[in-house]
Amino acid sequence: MPVTVVVGCQWGDEGKGKIIDSMAGEADWVARFQGGANAGHTLSVGGKTHVLHLIPSGILRPDVRCILGNGVVIDPFELLKEVAALEAEGIDVTKRLQVSRHAHCVTPIHRWEESLSRADEAIGTTRRGIGPSYEGKVARRGLRMEAFLAEAPLREGLERAWELWDAQRLAKGAPLPEEAAGGVEGLIRRFLEIREQLIPLLEDTTGILLDAVKRGERILAEGAQGALLDVDHGTYPYVTSSHTISGSVCIGLGLPPTSVDRIIGIAKAYTTRVGEGPFPTEMEAATAEPFRRRAGEYGATTGRPRRCGWLDLVLLRRAVELNGVTGLVITKLDILQGMRPLKICTSYQLNGRRVERSDASPMTLKKVQPVYEEVEGWNEPLPAGSDWTRLSRPARMYVRRIAETLDCRVDWVSVGPERESLIRVG
Ligand code: IMP
Repeated sequence: MPVTVVVGCQWGDEGKGKIIDSMAGEADWVARFQGGANAGHTLSVGGKTHVLHLIPSGILRPDVRCILGNGVVIDPFELLKEVAALEAEGIDVTKRLQVSRHAHCVTPIHRWEESLSRADEAIGTTRRGIGPSYEGKVARRGLRMEAFLAEAPLREGLERAWELWDAQRLAKGAPLPEEAAGGVEGLIRRFLEIREQLIPLLEDTTGILLDAVKRGERILAEGAQGALLDVDHGTYPYVTSSHTISGSVCIGLGLPPTSVDRIIGIAKAYTTRVGEGPFPTEMEAATAEPFRRRAGEYGATTGRPRRCGWLDLVLLRRAVELNGVTGLVITKLDILQGMRPLKICTSYQLNGRRVERSDASPMTLKKVQPVYEEVEGWNEPLPAGSDWTRLSRPARMYVRRIAETLDCRVDWVSVGPERESLIRVG
């Protein structure tokens, strides 16, 4: 069966983009199924770095076709900016990218709503309007991308959204954002100006993918964020507004569960998170600060410093089980070089008991104390292009410990940003 899913198993930023770019060499299609421009996938290819927010990471492979599925929320201006930036570098995007007509649109009004509700501060969101767009979808007042196909639905949808938001704004006595100075007509004009560029991209992507499945073509479903940011299964309310786990592929692309046969879970060799919320294995500031600098842990979307911590196998176990991971990829193993002592959290102490699983609820997590195992560190660099047996022994033991504790295969490790830095675990 042809669908392979790649999902993050922590709080996002696990390095999924790079893994998808590598795996896309053997795929016909790469499809995003959830999230929006809150994601930030950084890819280093041939000495060049590309940061993608919306467009699937498969776009850098010339033979791969890319899909933004119905479960994605799309800021059309961001999308066109990204298309233009890639095309300026000679990457052919428009002929290889199709966008679901059913995907919902993120409008500037959603961003304004987000700051009005203060969710940007309380949750530490990426301020991309993601939550309000999903809210509108579930409340059945959203604007689907298919509205671009004709002028009237676009105009009506924007007028309706403006009216609702403006009433809320006035009730709160908030000023009109500078960007809204042109009024609703100004906003409609901006949307009408990009209509012609978007229309050729809009398709029934579910139909396209169902046909591809029938033909036995290989589809890579690209997750954004990570299991602990899932709106139901993550550290609610400190989560994103979509379902980030593998089950979401079926809804977000319209593919049946029976079409999926491989689920690749991506986890860093340590843990990071951005935004607010519980983080049991967070490092103390004195350790975190130099670690963050060395690891380059700053948000690809917002530039915010990421919070850093030790590998948490209790939460990773949950993610592996929730996703049905068939094989893990451990990324950024090279960053741990020289860390002494090196710690892994293998269980929690909760109400006087040792526990090895957790529901990831902040109500539980605020009561747990992580139980750490100290493991041997290594000083030798882990060079890209080497094979597994040539990696330093403690580094191999670290990876084996993860596989053993989670009872899940680790198939690959990554030791650097380039494509060549993926090493198959022997
Ligand atoms: P939102 O997705 O912008 O609504 O933000 C909700 C939460 O998810 C915040 O804590 C964000 O920092 C986090 N988040 C959203 N996208 C990403 C991502 O791609 N990587 C890491 N965290 C993310």
